[in-house]
Amino acid sequence: KKADFKSRLLEVNKEAAKYFYVQLKSDRGKPAHDYLTNRQLSEEIIVKFGLGYSNKYSDDLYQYLKQKGYEDNLLKESGLVTIDEAKGANDKFWNRVMFPIMDVNNRVIGFGGRVMGDGMPKYLNSPETKIFDKSRNLYGLNLARISRKNYIILCEGYMDVIALHQAGFNNAVASLGTAFTGLQASLLKRYTDEVFLSYDSDGAGTKAALRAIPILKEAGLTAKVIDMRPYKDPDEFIKALGKEEYEKRIEQAKNSFYFEIEVLEREHDMSDPEEKTKFFNETAQKLLVFKEEIERNIYIEAIARKYNIAFEDLRKLVNKYGSQIV
Ligand code: UTP
Ligand code: MN
Ligand code: MN
Ligand code: MN
Ligand code: MN
Repeated sequence: KKADFKSRLLEVNKEAAKYFYVQLKSDRGKPAHDYLTNRQLSEEIIVKFGLGYSNKYSDDLYQYLKQKGYEDNLLKESGLVTIDEAKGANDKFWNRVMFPIMDVNNRVIGFGGRVMGDGMPKYLNSPETKIFDKSRNLYGLNLARISRKNYIILCEGYMDVIALHQAGFNNAVASLGTAFTGLQASLLKRYTDEVFLSYDSDGAGTKAALRAIPILKEAGLTAKVIDMRPYKDPDEFIKALGKEEYEKRIEQAKNSFYFEIEVLEREHDMSDPEEKTKFFNETAQKLLVFKEEIERNIYIEAIARKYNIAFEDLRKLVNKYGSQIV
């Protein structure tokens, strides 16, 4: 019997994940294992996420899979090897710590591979294949969906997800090194109604959070934002302050609209009247996302109180912009 192409690709990925895992546990994989230990990952979590190691040989995975009976065309399509006439067969991942990426049904659909040090790129990912669509999957969702928690934590990176799971936050997921998509939001909506964003605290992470919020809302999800400052990401935060402090940050998570307004505030010098006026004008325009009058007024009131201006003044400003769009 000949299984169809997609299931054969899944098989190849599964074999590769096993191979990488065995390599990690071998003598050759010691530097990779040390790397993970230095990043404070336990043996248990390494097994849970099926982490592995792609070693330094240029075609050992290819040889291994070939000997298992998989044909060149299939291996090429898997994205795990490149084959061309001049250079022959080459493994895609060399000397990297390997993160198998699972779909919600625990099938290995691709890999991320991290360099152990400062090389570039930091993470190399499988290309999109017939079974790997980055915009439709989330790292860790296979575990988060069975976490029995009523919300999901959305972060940026592989290591964030793993560190969070190790700390007991087994409802953490990450988008796969690309901007968060509407398809990913719909996927999340199948399992939860509420998402806590735990993106990096740097400029890129803030921008990414601002872009993810409307996408989450569009899918009918409530979004809250966890503040990682003064640390860079959940992994570093938990390493520095521990899980109890992270739990507190979840409790203190901001309503996503307040988060947007605070980012706006940081972009304006509020001691300068001109800048402050701009800030209120931009805020007023943002308040138009609330279509229901009661809800809009609640937000107008809260913002007016926070920034110490009269409710009616802000409401007038909002209405001014509201009447401009018909
Ligand atoms: P970050 O640069 O924030 O890395 O990228 P990180 O997750 O904190 O990694 P560590 O802690 O240094 O190991 C966030 C995510 O973006 C994707 C990866 O999915 C990464 O986890 N990324 C980043 C890439 O795909 N390629 C890169 O070169 C860098
Ligand atoms: Mn290799
Ligand atoms: Mn980042
Ligand atoms: Mn990190
Ligand atoms: Mn990061």
